[in-house]
Amino acid sequence: MPNVTPYNNTDSKKEQVAKMFDNIAFRYDFLNGLLSLGIHKGWRKKCVAKLISLQPKQILDVATGTADFAIECAKLKPQKIIGIDISEGMMQFGREKLKKLKLDNLIELKQGDAETIDFVDNSFDAIVVGFGVRNFENLEKGLKNLFRILKPGGSLVILEFSYPRKFPVKQFYTFYFSFVTPTIGKLFSKDSRAYSYLPESVKAFPDNEKFVEILNNCGYKNSNFKSLSFGISAMYEAKKQ
Ligand SMILES: C[S@@+](CC[C@H](N)C(=O)[O-])C[C@H]1O[C@@H](n2cnc3c(N)ncnc32)[C@H](O)[C@@H]1O
Repeated sequence: MPNVTPYNNTDSKKEQVAKMFDNIAFRYDFLNGLLSLGIHKGWRKKCVAKLISLQPKQILDVATGTADFAIECAKLKPQKIIGIDISEGMMQFGREKLKKLKLDNLIELKQGDAETIDFVDNSFDAIVVGFGVRNFENLEKGLKNLFRILKPGGSLVILEFSYPRKFPVKQFYTFYFSFVTPTIGKLFSKDSRAYSYLPESVKAFPDNEKFVEILNNCGYKNSNFKSLSFGISAMYEAKKQ
């Protein structure tokens, strides 16, 4: 995967990603709603529906950000949800939301890196990652670490942007992501790079079949994907046997 980073400077990708999300945290939820016209909520619902039959008790939301995926997972009525993220700024907004929703006993947000987090082996029945894997510094290291902490029989569900290939969605998407998203993002978030990094990182990301192959290489079984909203996003599911 080409090394696309937020600020193209000498800091590690991880440092740059954490800084970028700290910078845009105060506008993240607002811009998510505005730029996706609210579609992102339906995508998370679809992912959570994949986990209903598993009835997971212990859930990990990786790259939790402002905790939207963790909040959606609360509908599964688990015993505990832990959210981890490398951006403390994003989680501060997440914690405020959890308090307002009275979910702060069920959902706990902790500073943590998917690639190195040291939960004991076989800890979680289900792991979800929303728009996070594209930002990992070392994708395979992160996926292998998540495999280690997933229980046998458990599921990993990943939601990530993908690059549409078909006319006319591809053309509309290229226009929207290359001009509309960076302009609105820059205006509201005050970070001139964050919303240009977004389309660049989506284009560089090994999506769909390629990502399924990476999941298989990392030890997962029955890995599969489903394109969402004409291919602008994809939902991946993988199992640990
Ligand atoms: C686009 S936000 C997604 C937030 C949330 N999951 C959602 O669905 O809206 C991506 C998040 O991934 C986090 N992130 C990136 N690399 C990470 C890593 N290696 N470990 C944990 N979190 C990471 C960022 O700090 C950021 O908060």
